[in-house]
Amino acid sequence: MYRSGTLPEVTLKWAQTIDGQLADDSDQSQWISGIEERRYTHLLRSTHQAVLVGAQTFLKDLCQLTVRDIDYDELQPARVIIDPRGRVLAALKDNPHLIISLQMGPRRTYLLTDILEDFEDIDEKFDSTKLIRISYRFNDFRQWLMGGLRQLSLVIETAENRRLNFLMVEGGATTLSEFLKAGLADRLEVAISPLILGGSRHRVSSGSLLKNVDRFDVESKEQLGADILLRYKVRKATSLKRVMI
Ligand SMILES: NC(=O)c1ccc[n+]([C@@H]2O[C@H](COP(=O)([O-])OP(=O)(O)OC[C@H]3O[C@@H](n4cnc5c(N)ncnc54)[C@H](OP(=O)(O)O)[C@@H]3O)[C@@H](O)[C@H]2O)c1
Repeated sequence: MYRSGTLPEVTLKWAQTIDGQLADDSDQSQWISGIEERRYTHLLRSTHQAVLVGAQTFLKDLCQLTVRDIDYDELQPARVIIDPRGRVLAALKDNPHLIISLQMGPRRTYLLTDILEDFEDIDEKFDSTKLIRISYRFNDFRQWLMGGLRQLSLVIETAENRRLNFLMVEGGATTLSEFLKAGLADRLEVAISPLILGGSRHRVSSGSLLKNVDRFDVESKEQLGADILLRYKVRKATSLKRVMI
């Protein structure tokens, strides 16, 4: 067994254009993929105990991260937002209605942040049955991410008596790239939509040169409407790196 008991198995899931963009550079796009692929995303959420997005995705899309429009909508994941520099907390100050979005959905939302202090008057507005702030500090971002995931596992287990075995990370490109660079990806689910956007932002990167880059084995492929879904598994050599961190 290579896995430390407290880190969940992580699936990175995203939709991209043929040329690898997750969104357009103007930040005006919302859906890259079609309805069938989005319905599949809901199904995939129902097989994970928690679904995570970055602060920027939450603030721009106000995504619900719930399971909807499918038969298994009783299997709802917890929602996790990573907010390392307190960007969501700061936005709550000027936009109190965001609290409603944060506390929406049938399960708790966990806000993982580097901010340790009480935040203005915001914390007292949180309903702890709906929203839990996990404050965690570390100088290095990757260590922060790993420590934060361990904290998250513990808190979910304590607050909900539910083990976090499977975590799904849905974006954006910055967050997905950080998970890859930290060696925290076990599986990739990548939908390719028949579009070419151009642009240079919103691209997933491992930050490695070709000679060092991790490789993934294709598990399966499937056509979902106009989109093609590719499922990859990380090679064991990459997983082994995690034991040594
Ligand atoms: N096609 C898809 O599947 C898909 C899925 C989800 C989202 N999206 C799109 O993606 C866009 C948002 O993605 P994004 O990449 O801009 O943002 P993001 O991944 O949603 O959020 C990035 C967050 O992580 C923090 N962060 C990341 N790396 C860090 C580091 N090394 N040190 C400190 N903080 C770090 C940033 O902090 P700071 O804010 O403090 O810089 C930021 O809050 C939206 O347009 C959304 O619609 C597309």
